[in-house]
Amino acid sequence: MSQLGEMIQSANWKEEKHVPVIECPEKVNKDEMFQVKASLGKEIAHPNTTEHHIRWIRLYFKPEGDKFTYHIGSFEFTAHGESVDGANKGPVYTNHSVIAEFKTSRPGRLVAASYCNIHGLWESYKDIQVQ
Ligand SMILES: [Fe+2]
Repeated sequence: MSQLGEMIQSANWKEEKHVPVIECPEKVNKDEMFQVKASLGKEIAHPNTTEHHIRWIRLYFKPEGDKFTYHIGSFEFTAHGESVDGANKGPVYTNHSVIAEFKTSRPGRLVAASYCNIHGLWESYKDIQVQ
């Protein structure tokens, strides 16, 4: 039996299209809001079809030395060409990209998790310094 952590795959986002790309400053000001862009496919595009797409990205932050992890937000991508005319005939496709904003008083690790409807769970992280 596997635990959740063992089910989440990780890789270099430049070589693996399922890995979330986190774009934000490496150093932020204490208690000052900053933006984080989380997306997939910056280097290698991930399909966005009714049959194969990214369902969500979730962001977490674990302050250095803290026992607990904080959930920054969940971002659902829910339109992938579905329609009454059939799969991939719809007019609307949500792109798997989001910009979130948060602040922290402590440095720590920002973790992005993504879910592909057929290739499962993936993660990446970026360490954030606070000045
Ligand atoms: Fe996939």
